[in-house]
Amino acid sequence: MEGILIIRQPITHEEFEAMYDLRWRILRAPWNQPKGSERDEWETKASHFIALLNDKIIGTARLQLINQDAKIGQVRYLAIETIFQRKGIGGKLIEAIHLTATNRFLNHLVLNAREHAVKFFEKHGYKVVGEGPLLFGSIKHKKMLIKFARGDLRMQEIIHNLKQSLT
Ligand SMILES: CC(C)(COP(=O)(O)OP(=O)(O)OC[C@H]1O[C@@H](n2cnc3c(N)ncnc32)[C@H](O)[C@@H]1OP(=O)(O)O)[C@@H](O)C(=O)NCCC(=O)NCCS
Repeated sequence: MEGILIIRQPITHEEFEAMYDLRWRILRAPWNQPKGSERDEWETKASHFIALLNDKIIGTARLQLINQDAKIGQVRYLAIETIFQRKGIGGKLIEAIHLTATNRFLNHLVLNAREHAVKFFEKHGYKVVGEGPLLFGSIKHKKMLIKFARGDLRMQEIIHNLKQSLT
């Protein structure tokens, strides 16, 4: 893989459209789902992440808060362009999401993993905690969870407080 890989949030309308198109092509089109099925009612409240290789969007993922009191977030729509899968890009997106989650003092993240992706999430600290939904009548999911170590959260708290006292 040649070039510079950048992980960041999308900014422009064009970047958001390219991100949704990637989601659709990887997560919806192979199951004959129409354009638009790759979006839901949480888009404006969630945090979006994109992986850019030489300015082209080749990966994406989304983090949303699902329980403010218990500080639980959910990861959804993780998708990597087919020819760039298994090159570490999904891992980089998950790392960015974990950093954001701990920065926001979230205690847990949950997700529904397609069965072939369970190993990938286990590699990043998630555990299977139950059966997930059956999507489009054929895609089985496992419910997975990661708990952040208190140490990680404590460190994020210290950094946060330091930043506050410096501004
Ligand atoms: C699943 C996915 C997000 C992983 O991202 P990625 O960039 O391909 O993964 P990484 O290169 O960071 O990590 C690779 C590791 O994850 C695991 N892994 C990833 N995809 C896998 C697959 N299809 N089958 C088995 N293990 C897989 C392996 O342990 C692999 O390590 P290895 O290549 O040394 O064996 C990506 O392959 C993808 O977009 N798949 C199609 C859409 C999808 O299923 N999204 C997840 C919905 S829950």
